Amino acid sequence: MRVLLIAGGWSNEREVSLSGAAKIHEALLRLGCKVTRLDPAERFDDILELASGSDFAFINMHGTPGEDGLVQAMLEQVDCPYQGSGPKASFLALNKACAKQVFARAGIPTPRWEYLPRRPQAGWSTKLRFPLFVKPNMGGSSLDLCRADNAEELTPAIERIFCRGETVLLEEGVNGQEVTSAILGEKALPLILIQPAGCAFFDYRCKYTQGGAKEICPAPIPERIARRVQELSMRAHKAMKLRGYSRSDFMLEGDEPYILEVNTLPGMTPTSLVPQAAHEAGLDFDALIKRLMDLGLE
Ligand code: DAL
Ligand code: MG
Repeated sequence: MRVLLIAGGWSNEREVSLSGAAKIHEALLRLGCKVTRLDPAERFDDILELASGSDFAFINMHGTPGEDGLVQAMLEQVDCPYQGSGPKASFLALNKACAKQVFARAGIPTPRWEYLPRRPQAGWSTKLRFPLFVKPNMGGSSLDLCRADNAEELTPAIERIFCRGETVLLEEGVNGQEVTSAILGEKALPLILIQPAGCAFFDYRCKYTQGGAKEICPAPIPERIARRVQELSMRAHKAMKLRGYSRSDFMLEGDEPYILEVNTLPGMTPTSLVPQAAHEAGLDFDALIKRLMDLGLE
């Protein structure tokens, strides 16, 4: 099978994308595929041409363009099958202010939030309760994300994100443990409990440094809570109209899970979570890639 592996791009998660793509490339070769690489940052104008000469596209992009549905829309233009969610669902999931509304309507508890599409006017103050997490509305990997404990810390944190041309999502901090729940096909994979090492939350360094966080799979939490998280992640997957796979991130406040976000193209680096959860479910990396391709071809 001729597979177009799309990775790289121009978002600030470029290195994460390329790191995962190196592993995926090796797996595709072991699976007997003929692989062509496409980095949209270098050859964006060739996507339609290359996709129309391929049997399948494996997308390992994070942020724009790819996790926002743009690449998926281009692939559909030439009927090239690919793994994961379609353009519309990808866009809604990456846009945190949109995803929050879908979660709320589906009855999935999520921390209170406020969306700032523009710089706040003088005299503005948030109605949310500190501490707050200040996030680029369409970012990933915790890049440019920070915690503000009071109004003095909030103002520069918001300004930093607007200076990068992004809009801002404020979210009330949940005091508790982080767990992540992946869906593959119609099933939830075992949960992972995340214990960041030497940092206050699961930031970029913890995510991509070996030993930066202790990730325990299956998560040592009561069965009843684990089932509830899995049920909520399946509900998020369906409510967002996702396809194939996704990974939802939660905070546990006592027994109560709060969803933070759902990722349609979860990281596939050597320290990433979905490959770990799949491994625990009996699928090694090659089997995971094969399953994602089979789901994309259904
Ligand atoms: N945004 C990163 C790649 C993740 O969700 O894994
Ligand atoms: Mg994300």
